[in-house]
Amino acid sequence: MAAKIIAVVNQKGGSGKTTTTMQLAGAISRRGKKVLVVDADPQGTATRWAASAEDEDPFPASVVGLSAANEKVHREVKKFIDDYDCILIDCPPAADSPVPQSALLIADLALVPIIPSPLDMWAAVGIRQVINNVSELNETLTARLILNQCQPKTTLAQESLEILPEFGIPLAKANIQHRQVYRQSAVFGQTVHSFGAKAAAAIKEIENLTDEVAAIISL
Ligand SMILES: Nc1ncnc2c1ncn2[C@@H]1O[C@H](COP(=O)(O)OP(=O)(O)OP(=O)(O)O)[C@@H](O)[C@H]1O
Ligand SMILES: [Mg+2]
Repeated sequence: MAAKIIAVVNQKGGSGKTTTTMQLAGAISRRGKKVLVVDADPQGTATRWAASAEDEDPFPASVVGLSAANEKVHREVKKFIDDYDCILIDCPPAADSPVPQSALLIADLALVPIIPSPLDMWAAVGIRQVINNVSELNETLTARLILNQCQPKTTLAQESLEILPEFGIPLAKANIQHRQVYRQSAVFGQTVHSFGAKAAAAIKEIENLTDEVAAIISL
């Protein structure tokens, strides 16, 4: 069976693309699926994340660096499609990069992590056009916004919610709160699941997100 493909995109830097990619990849792997992370970002953050794991406790999904493929990344990803259940493509932030467009061409689902602050959101609204353009070629493409680094009950978050409709992309029910354990996951080359009881709330939100994503792409 062909792998389900998730492209994690947002031209805005630092919105949580790599965090979302790696947490989801690890969580889906833990459910017994064979998962590949495609690091399509020349910064190589996903690759470094996985490389930070101890040899005796490796990151649960495979990671391959394909940023050099540029606008042909979809062709390179296709070569792996029969070997995995799920492929997540961590895209670079640059607005002028051809990579997100290429990744979206073969994706079943586009995930757009955004930080719910007005400045971050205005900088990210342009992703709507990219997804709309690709949707004409990839008619089955579905997309979801994911709120990342949420700090609930602040007035700023409320203002930000008013910008959301401009994206024209449905909001995932699950969101990701601002928590130190997300940074620690990267340092130790793991997901929040490795941090046990003290990460219970983070594990819960990643599991909720994984449930939602799995339901959308019938994983
Ligand atoms: N929910 C969160 N809580 C705390 N820190 C977070 C959270 N999400 C992301 N971060 C931190 O914010 C920074 C940016 O996150 P990340 O690298 O995932 O974003 P990105 O969109 O992939 O960035 P880039 O555009 O540079 O590729 C990292 O230091 C990461 O650890
Ligand atoms: Mg990144």
